[in-house]
Amino acid sequence: MEASNNENIEFINNIKELVKHEKIQEMRNYIQHGNTTTLTHCLIVSYYSYQLSRRLPFHMNRGSIIRGAMLHDFYLYDWHKPEESQRLHGFVHAKFALANAKKYFDLNDIEVDIIKTHMWPLTLFQIPKSKEALLVCCVDKVCSLLETLYIPTMPKCYRQLMRLINTGKVLNLG
Ligand SMILES: [Fe+2]
Ligand SMILES: [Fe+2]
Repeated sequence: MEASNNENIEFINNIKELVKHEKIQEMRNYIQHGNTTTLTHCLIVSYYSYQLSRRLPFHMNRGSIIRGAMLHDFYLYDWHKPEESQRLHGFVHAKFALANAKKYFDLNDIEVDIIKTHMWPLTLFQIPKSKEALLVCCVDKVCSLLETLYIPTMPKCYRQLMRLINTGKVLNLG
């Protein structure tokens, strides 16, 4: 999926406040699936959710999609290590991610919905209530599967975004 520069700038402008935050940067230290860190996973889910939202025939809050998806796995532990991991990680980590997200950022209802329900249908009663949350829930599953299978998920332009973010140049944009 190719994106225009304008689309990339909209994405960066919505995500930069989160990405430069030291607690978000902590997600670099944890592996999510395969060899993908939690920081990269959240960026990828955010990016593809945003790109899809632009192409679907529904009105959606794109800023909330970007932010909610970036925070959806903000639980800050390595779920592969028994000494750090929470029991039943798949069922409980959305709750920890939401608690962290609320602690460090102001969230709107859609962003809360995205984080809280992203593991549905595993978390049976946490059903997405918004189109935005349903979209992120689906994109997360596809990205997670690809990462687990070691199939590259980064589009060409996404590598450029990662470079901008990783070098700190993102802070100089917009
Ligand atoms: Fe998750
Ligand atoms: Fe995820």
